[in-house]
Amino acid sequence: MATDAGNPMPRFPAGFLWGVSTSAHQIEGAVDEREPSVWDAFTAGPGRVKDGSTAAVACDHYHRYREDVALLAGLGVDAYRFSVSWPRVNSPGGPEFYDRLVDALCAAGVRPVPTLFHWDLPARLDWLERDTASRFAEYVSLVAERLGDRVSKWITLNEPAEHTLLGHALGVHAPGKQLLFDALPVAHHQLLAHGLAVRALRAAGATDIGIANSHGPVWAASEEPADAEAADFYDVLLNRLFAEPLILGEYPCGLGELMPGDVESDLKVIAEPIDWYGVNYYAPAKVGAPHGTEIDFGGITLPAELPFSVREIEGRPVTDFGWPVVPEGLTELLTTFRDRYGDRLPPVVITENGCSYEGIDDQDRIAYLDAHVRALHRAVQAGVDVRGYFVWSLLDNFEWAEGYARRFGLVHVDYDTLERTPKASYGWFRDMLRAQG
Ligand code: FCB
Repeated sequence: MATDAGNPMPRFPAGFLWGVSTSAHQIEGAVDEREPSVWDAFTAGPGRVKDGSTAAVACDHYHRYREDVALLAGLGVDAYRFSVSWPRVNSPGGPEFYDRLVDALCAAGVRPVPTLFHWDLPARLDWLERDTASRFAEYVSLVAERLGDRVSKWITLNEPAEHTLLGHALGVHAPGKQLLFDALPVAHHQLLAHGLAVRALRAAGATDIGIANSHGPVWAASEEPADAEAADFYDVLLNRLFAEPLILGEYPCGLGELMPGDVESDLKVIAEPIDWYGVNYYAPAKVGAPHGTEIDFGGITLPAELPFSVREIEGRPVTDFGWPVVPEGLTELLTTFRDRYGDRLPPVVITENGCSYEGIDDQDRIAYLDAHVRALHRAVQAGVDVRGYFVWSLLDNFEWAEGYARRFGLVHVDYDTLERTPKASYGWFRDMLRAQG
């Protein structure tokens, strides 16, 4: 990787928000102290999680949140992005837990930034049902009433694209449905849920509302028309399908015709103005025409019948997950979005960026983060209105279908003792933030 590491980190604009992210199901544990989610049901099935683990204990953050808030304070972040578990809010003691967490964050001078849905749907609900969007808005109203006196920045959904694709099209995440393109209503209902949530938040007096969508540049495997067409198709699915209803109030490429319900009127809800647009960035994708055979994509088997194939990006270091390290992909993504959507693109916040590596002296994570923060600064210099950056993740945690095998934390977690140990990258991030002032 080309690196400027060693040169001083350039200064970001005043008021830039620095933070770290986690999600409820990945860190909280205490699953018996709330109603079940689709992830509890999914992980109970055999062979779903690679190491056979569950999130029953995870980092036990539910009982150890004070220690984790102390780690946040020591890091010196402005903000902490966590998620509120819908099943926990429905359960006795759940709302009080988030009260305590938010109080502890405020006392530590760390701004709480809750995500209202990070994939842990109550097990009795289903995104194939339109009604789930309305149920979500009711739950959001409850949370906003409860926490709105102390929370001033909100995220509706995390990565509806991955939740649709991995959870409902391919079945490698909860709820384990393998509907391929019949999963499209799940995308529409989540987008509708987002729009209804924005309205519910505003009705409760909330401001500063965004969403966390996953995006990455899509590179065609070659200049052959079949590869270019497949890459365009993938770009529509990954980037445009989830961005354009929100930003432009329309589905790309006539996809609205495949969506259920009164799509025109739903789009008015979906395009309810937001204050900022969250981007989770990990890596670009190289895409070509279909091979006609199943392919392995970062451990996920993509079926042969998809109209594209995801190829390896060669000549790059990869993380332990096998994801290529391509910092300039972040600059490219943001400048492409700015060029595509112009003034209609709200200010951007990077709501997740990070990497899985083993070890406590994690120099490879430092190199990854250093290069990506510099790449982000290049986007700022190129005129993209970027307002914040959150590292995924504060802690090593339950990485969905990968179980505990992938470690993304700035802080190491010993899953036997639950002891937390700050890694070298924790010190690097803390020092970088101090130097930003
Ligand atoms: C994102 C998820 C997050 C985490 C990272 C590695 O897709 O939003 O929960 O799993 O990937």
